[in-house]
Parts: sequence; structure tokens; C-alpha cells
Amino acid sequence: MSVLVLGGAGYIGSHMVRQLLADGQDVVVVDNLVKGHRAAVAPEAKFYQVDIRDKKALSEVFDKEDIEAVVHFAAFSIVPESVAEPLKYFDNNTAGMVTLLEVMKEHDVKKIVFSSTAATYGNPVNIPIKETDPQNPINPYGESKLMMEKMMGWADKAYGIKWVALRYFNVAGAMPDGSIGEDHGPETHLVPIILQAASGKRDYIEMFGDDYNTPDGFNVRDYVHVVDLADAHILALNYLKEGKPSAQFNLGSATGFSVKEMVEAARKATGVDIKSKIGPRRAGDPDILIADSTAAREVLGWKPKYDDVEEIIKTAWNWTEKHPNGYDDKK
Ligand code: UFG
Repeated sequence: MSVLVLGGAGYIGSHMVRQLLADGQDVVVVDNLVKGHRAAVAPEAKFYQVDIRDKKALSEVFDKEDIEAVVHFAAFSIVPESVAEPLKYFDNNTAGMVTLLEVMKEHDVKKIVFSSTAATYGNPVNIPIKETDPQNPINPYGESKLMMEKMMGWADKAYGIKWVALRYFNVAGAMPDGSIGEDHGPETHLVPIILQAASGKRDYIEMFGDDYNTPDGFNVRDYVHVVDLADAHILALNYLKEGKPSAQFNLGSATGFSVKEMVEAARKATGVDIKSKIGPRRAGDPDILIADSTAAREVLGWKPKYDDVEEIIKTAWNWTEKHPNGYDDKK
């Protein structure tokens, strides 16, 4: 039986595919390649270029393959874009989930691990954030993912589809051997942008705002390594295979780093004197987002291997140095 990875050509999905294969599992990948890269998919995985909103094509994959469980990464995830184009997010993310759950129900596939986000909490009421804290998204991206969580809740009650939602904080890093990594077009995330400044692709990193309510004035995020994140999905699949109830878990390191601290860590990790400038705040950025990931550690037995952002950045730098143009397939 196979695990179906939706969005397996994307940044996190491609790392998930490798970790599943390393765990001895058979893997089928579905990706529409709008954001993902064919070259990111491990050759041992079966690949279908299909959009999850195309019910007929998705059903055919389920007809052909013996699918035991689904891991769902196929979504848009850029917060400012979602504010400008909310319907794009409700279509691809939320409506895509309707199609997926229908196809799963029709093929009697009853397990799904879902890529959710800290953005479902909106402005946090507690730091660190617990899974039981209120979810009040402040942008369409977070709203689209919260709706997807809720849809799975109702699909569980009606059809017995069991789910685990993993709410990621800030994912960074790359496969330590440098074979796959982060390559978004356009790039908006902090670590790859800092590394573009380190490699000379941009002149400097602009740090968005120095007047946040934090110790050094720069906003604080909780960075988690992409391989540790992928490993949590394998544990979540095992949890569902044991017949346990649907659940949601935060995935973060429980430690916060400011933008300035991240730039400093990147200078150490790369040995490059990365230039930085202070710019205005970016709309919609909360002061601090830090996860309480106790539940993932206690219930799933998750033990992240990376607890040092410098080490996380080193793996991303290794990928950047080996692949200065990323996958070089869309440029
Ligand atoms: N930042 C800069 N300069 C840049 C880019 C980012 O200062 O050029 C800052 C941001 O203001 C923020 C931090 O770096 O404080 C991290 O920004 P990212 O864009 O890398 O990540 P976000 O925290 O905005 O969002 C990420 C994911 C979302 C997810 C969120 C949850 O992209 O999908 O984490 O924490 F919802």
C-alpha cells in the first residue's frame, strides 16, 4: 500500500517524499507543478501531474494506486498574496479540499495528514501558542486553512475520515546532503532571502520593522527544520494507523528568534558579512509567534533533531551553494 503525497514537488512535500522512502514506504506523488518542481520529486516515487481540483483525474489516481493514506501539502501559502487575491486561496486550498475529501470517501481512504499553519491562530492570545488557543485568522490564507481543518472535522463525523492537522510555524532548512531545498518563485521567506544576500543575488536583506514589542524590536518567529517537520508527518501517519482519534498538533521548536538574530546566525553559518537594512513593517506581521509543541512531543513522540537555527541555516546554505539557481526549471 502507498502513501499519497499531494504537493510532493513542493518545498515541504519533496522532503516528506524522501523521508517516507527512507522509512521504507511506497510513495505516490500528485502535484500540478504550478509551484512545485518535477526535479524535486525523488525518482523512486510514482508521479502524476494532476490538479487536486480535477476530480476525474484525481479519482483515476486513486483507481490505479492502492492508497492507504494521504498527506496533503498542495496549497497556496503566501500571506500578502492571499490578502490581494482571497478567492484564489479559497478555490485552490478550500475548494480543493472538498474534491479531495469526496474522492477519499468514494475510494474508502480514511486517513489524512494535513499541512496546517500557525496562521490559523491570527494574533495569538498566549505565547507560546497552544493547540487549544482561539483560532481567529487575520488573512485569507489562514482562513482557508482553518476552513479545511473544519471540513475534515465534519467529514470525520459523517464518513469516519480520520485526520491529523499539523500547524507549522516557520519552516526552514534543506535536506542535509543538499539534494533538495527551498525554491519559491517569487521568494518571500526570510531564510532564503537572507541567503540570497549572502550569495550576492541581492545586495542586502531588508529587515521589516524594528519597532515591534520584542526585546530587540525585531519580530520573533519559531523556526523548525524541514526534515524534522517531515518526520512529524510520518509519526502522525503512524498515529492514525494505530486507530487513534483525529487531532491537531503545533510543530515548532518552542524557541523564538528575531529577524536580527536570524541575520546574525546566518552570518555565522555562512561566514559571509551579510548586509542588512532596516525597512518599514510588513503588513499583517504579529510581534511574536512561538509554538507550544508539547503535544506533538508527548502524543506523537516527536523529537526534532535541530534545535539550533545556525545549524538549520547551514543546511539551507549547503543547498544554495550547490544549486545557485534552485531547480533552474522555471527561470
Ligand atoms: N522578513 C524580513 N525580511 C524579508 C522577509 C521576511 O524581515 O525580506 C521577516 C518577516 O517580517 C517575519 C519573518 O521575517 O518577521 C519571517 O517571515 P517569513 O515571510 O519567512 O514567514 P512568515 O512568518 O510571514 O510566514 C510563515 C509562512 C506562513 C505561515 C507562518 C506561520 O510563510 O505560511 O510562517 O508562522 F503561516
